[in-house]
Amino acid sequence: MDPFKLRCNLLSSLTFVFFLLHFFYQAASDLNSDKQALLDFSASVRHGRRLAWSLHTPACSSWIGVKCTKNRMRVLGVRLPGIGLAGSIPPNSLGKLDALQVLSLRSNKLNGTLPADVATLPSLRFLYLQNNKLSGHLPDSFSPMLNSIALSFNSFTGGIPTAIQNLSRLTTLNLENNILSGPIPDLKLPKLRQMNVRFNNLNGSIPLSLQSFSKDSFIGNQQLCGSPLPQCSVLLPSPSPSFASSPLPIVPSDRRQNPSKKFTIGVIIAIASGGLTLLFLLTIILLVCILKRGGESSDLVNTKAATDRRGDRHNEEYSSGVQGTERNKMAFFDSCSYNFDLEDLLRASAEVLGKGSYGTAYKAVLEDGTTVVVKRLKEVVAGKKDFEQQMEVIGRIGHHPNILPLRSYYYAKDEKLLVYEYLSAGSFFTLLHGNRISGRTPLNWDTRLKIMLGAAKAIAHIHSDAGVKFSHGNIKSSNILLTPDLRALVTDYGLSQLMSFRPPLPRAAPAYLAPEFIGTRKHTHESDVYGFGVVLLEMLTGKSPVRAPGHDEIVDLPRWVQSVVREEWTAEVFDVELMRFPNIEEEMVGMLRIALACTDRDPHQRPGMEEVVRLIEDLRPSDSDSRLSPDDKLS
Ligand SMILES: *[C@@H]1O[C@H](CO)[C@@H](O)[C@H](O)[C@H]1NC(C)=O
Ligand SMILES: *[C@@H]1O[C@H](CO)[C@@H](O)[C@H](O)[C@H]1NC(C)=O
Ligand SMILES: *[C@@H]1O[C@H](CO)[C@@H](O)[C@H](O)[C@H]1NC(C)=O
Repeated sequence: MDPFKLRCNLLSSLTFVFFLLHFFYQAASDLNSDKQALLDFSASVRHGRRLAWSLHTPACSSWIGVKCTKNRMRVLGVRLPGIGLAGSIPPNSLGKLDALQVLSLRSNKLNGTLPADVATLPSLRFLYLQNNKLSGHLPDSFSPMLNSIALSFNSFTGGIPTAIQNLSRLTTLNLENNILSGPIPDLKLPKLRQMNVRFNNLNGSIPLSLQSFSKDSFIGNQQLCGSPLPQCSVLLPSPSPSFASSPLPIVPSDRRQNPSKKFTIGVIIAIASGGLTLLFLLTIILLVCILKRGGESSDLVNTKAATDRRGDRHNEEYSSGVQGTERNKMAFFDSCSYNFDLEDLLRASAEVLGKGSYGTAYKAVLEDGTTVVVKRLKEVVAGKKDFEQQMEVIGRIGHHPNILPLRSYYYAKDEKLLVYEYLSAGSFFTLLHGNRISGRTPLNWDTRLKIMLGAAKAIAHIHSDAGVKFSHGNIKSSNILLTPDLRALVTDYGLSQLMSFRPPLPRAAPAYLAPEFIGTRKHTHESDVYGFGVVLLEMLTGKSPVRAPGHDEIVDLPRWVQSVVREEWTAEVFDVELMRFPNIEEEMVGMLRIALACTDRDPHQRPGMEEVVRLIEDLRPSDSDSRLSPDDKLS
């Protein structure tokens, strides 16, 4: 071989080795200083359960509660909720983790003050220290990146720092149940969605910028006044003018991108000692290297399981298919005020709400207290593009007072998640059939009528807004949810189109399926009308078309009702609970006619949904008090 070439090769190899060494040395030194900071912290707090942090084990894969950047160079998150940490957080420990974005030490027994260096960590976005025994004043300054501050249920004293005015990214501020005093600063924070200072010793009047929050955010402060609390007396001075203006800070550029900084150093070395070819080669090797390490990065969910076992058992169920590189690509709809990403969702404590035809629904409580419903879809056949298009339609038709809007979705090869608001009042199914045995308050006619009218309007809206090809596809009483004031919110719409092309007949609720569906396996507007008719019959008869505890189950409600009505036993079909309400027979019979029309076996004989809405609205002519006997009306 040409000696010159050989030397050149040798030189390149040497440069390459030198470069790699330098690269990993840099990485290691940053990670080592992060490790040291964490060890300093763990050495000065007591912990019930052993953390098993040791200088000799890899922090990114084996340290409980620690999460690193993809390239494993820096510590990104520390989450140790509820593991019995006691003692105080020493300065110069956690405060040195300058790439840290999430710090959650909530529900421990930490005491002492909150060190200033922790609050000002330049990348810190989420600070969760609620439910501890922290005391002293709050720090004077905070990281401008902060998104959520939760310091509730501690013993902090002194005033609310005016530095909070400068946190333009803040969405959640929770300071409830401390001993804070003085006035509330005028927080003109455009993104602030949740704010809570109740049960402190705050005084003065509530600043204008915060008066849109509910009374609940302010109660328990004896000397606080002004809207939404009662008026201030004239003698009380308004908050000092120094709080009035809040200049927004210039947000510093994201400092998380350390790999690129190191890459630049590498480039300089390469140019100094090698050639352009080498540089090119190095770049490729380096990229491959980074990508590979990223792909292997420790899975949050695995470490998480060890960290927090209290009631989070179901998390793995909907997080198992989420791949490292696909994380955090959640799509939100613009009207949505939620502030979380996929990782928050994955570590939220979750419980199974129910298994439906399209997958399992979970109730998930996020770290900041927001509760959402996560639906994990199974057997989606639609590709990414079709899925996204369908989500756009679903998102658009959600703008209706009787439709539960889709807030967010996530699509990956192995996992599809939908996120909805959580409604604690439950569904029309539970309202109608729940607690019947143990002597409940009967559900009155007006409420039933109002819920059915709301649901009818929702379905009519879906049909008119999204076009002929778009149907609800899964109408049943358990998909009509309720707000606390019993407004109907229809959910689970538009998903059937995403599922397999010729779906098997669902075992769970065939009762709501139109007869023609058995042949065509296609959901149409007409089959939606049929499903709605079955819900109407369910409401009228109080009988459940699916198995419910302590109930007569009647699988084919339409056929049963028709047979009873044919025998001229019309009065027998109605729910006994309705018998105690006077003067409603006429409306009940009118509704029965609508229901029977909707459940006609011939899809072309069924009324359209707009028509159904009109028919229900016409049931109650305001000035009619003539009540005919049911049999007369139906003959
Ligand atoms: C914190 O609690 C420990 C006992 O757990 C106690 O020894 C220490 O004095 C407390 N420190 C402060 C600042 O209250
Ligand atoms: C807010 O930011 C402005 C400009 O960056 C700065 O002058 C001011 O001191 C900050 N206010 C507080 C209370 O930190
Ligand atoms: C609020 O309380 C502080 C003491 O915590 C007191 O100095 C101040 O005068 C009070 N302001 C009002 C408006 O009551």
